[in-house]
Amino acid sequence: MNVTTISTTPYTDQKPGTSGLRKKVPTFQQPNYLENFVQSIFDSLQGYRGATLVVGGDGRYYNREAIQIILKMAAANGFGRILVGQNGILSTPAVSCIIRKHNAFGGIVLSASHNPGGPTEDFGIKYNIGNGGPAPEKVTSAIFDRTKTLSEYAILAAGDVDLDRLGTTQLGNTTIEIVDAVVDYAELMESLFDFDKIRKLLTSGNFRMCMDSLHAVTGPYATAIFEGKLGAPSGTVQNGTPLEDFGGGHPDPNLVYARDLVELLFGDNAPDFGAASDGDGDRNMILGRQFFVNPSDSLAILAANATLVPGYRNGLAGVARSMPTSAAVDRVAAKLGIDCYETPTGWKFFGNLLDAGKATLCGEESFGTGSDHVREKDGLWAVLFWLNILAATGKSVEEICQEHWAAYGRNYYSRHDYEAVDKQSAAELMERLRGMLCDLPGKEWGPFEVEYADDFSYTDPVDGSVAEKQGIRIGMTDGSRMVFRLSGTGTQGATLRLYLESFEPDSAKHHLDPQTALASLIALADELAKIRKFTGREKPTVTT
Ligand code: G1P
Ligand code: ZN
Repeated sequence: MNVTTISTTPYTDQKPGTSGLRKKVPTFQQPNYLENFVQSIFDSLQGYRGATLVVGGDGRYYNREAIQIILKMAAANGFGRILVGQNGILSTPAVSCIIRKHNAFGGIVLSASHNPGGPTEDFGIKYNIGNGGPAPEKVTSAIFDRTKTLSEYAILAAGDVDLDRLGTTQLGNTTIEIVDAVVDYAELMESLFDFDKIRKLLTSGNFRMCMDSLHAVTGPYATAIFEGKLGAPSGTVQNGTPLEDFGGGHPDPNLVYARDLVELLFGDNAPDFGAASDGDGDRNMILGRQFFVNPSDSLAILAANATLVPGYRNGLAGVARSMPTSAAVDRVAAKLGIDCYETPTGWKFFGNLLDAGKATLCGEESFGTGSDHVREKDGLWAVLFWLNILAATGKSVEEICQEHWAAYGRNYYSRHDYEAVDKQSAAELMERLRGMLCDLPGKEWGPFEVEYADDFSYTDPVDGSVAEKQGIRIGMTDGSRMVFRLSGTGTQGATLRLYLESFEPDSAKHHLDPQTALASLIALADELAKIRKFTGREKPTVTT
């Protein structure tokens, strides 16, 4: 075997964020940049010699080049077998599914999720552990520590592997298997949901759906599942071919970036159901006819209706949500008499709860929902879950939501993002707020009185690990809340996220636009944090 050891010098900026290492493509193209990070991953792991690694990405620019480098390095470092998605494609939930199904040691996902792709846009790399989920903090910090001292890496001198042809080849002593990207994942979905019922709905002639894959990774999965297995008419999946630059778009399923879908669902003669997913397929947006389902509500509604779905027929062990996600699901958990966990932002914090059987469903306000079927959030899973509920109840998306609010009350919710603002000013805004926290409780402004103000800290109930400074929370005595956080996934400047929530028990007041319902809280947030002053922006870049 022709292993070469290449000497290298550390890069100082390889600290993984909320979800792996994300940088602009030219950063990754610097000499040894990717290689250093990959070697640091391998050096932080133990016992993988001869074991199986799963590799795939969302098809964005630099995906194929990166995979060739990773395969040669994984072979040189002694992995026994590598499963690679055909054409280099694997969605994030599919990687998780394949790691679990094939008892792999771990996996490498190449994606910058919802960030744009292309020669000057974003790329990313993330390591997943043997449970199929994102590496926990102790692993990512070990990787980061290693990047700071690395002096050499190992790579096989070999030709490129043909990523497009299914089958097995050898790279040195390592077996490379190019696997169908969709089959294992589609099988798992079929085992969870009532495909017969959903097929009846989709072929009934009086229900129309539109799935927008935004030219990203879910295209092949959605086409195989909705149009193939479930019989939806061809054309149901739109923008279904993964493109290296996502067609120039921003593959983020929200009201701003999935504009075509939103226009369709809010236009004349709209379909009954619309859904979109992100670059790597772990996020989802759910729309009804002229109706948007807030992701926090979506989690609560899935939890409340879970027993309609065969895979969750026996009920839920518990639920979990990230701290900035609204408390709508807490109300469902209380009614069901199950535990509800509040974790920091990022899917990696759900892993232990899922492994320990403490939570069955998890979700984040950032269009992420999932369950213990894998260890990632899962966009198409959420779409199928909604379809299963619609098929089982015969109700519309809007009816399901209105009835849910009538039963549990409505948690009005909105997130305001100030993207690509000056890093230092954003840090100053947060520091200033931190300095105010002790004095806030008891202060009153109009209808609001501060009940608590803190910087969220989390102790993992399974392994006792502590995560601090996870977002500033200011909670009011009437249940309203504002949360301030800086994004850990942005690649340009800083992104300030402001999360706003209030609770309305009275169903006569459930018809308001969230921006109207939250108007006084929004004004107070700006006054307290001086958002306009620090960001220099009159309004948020994205309002959800
Ligand atoms: C964002 C979301 C977070 C999600 C992450 C990865 O992270 O807010 O919920 O887990 O992307 O998809 P952030 O940029 O806020 O750190
Ligand atoms: Zn994603």
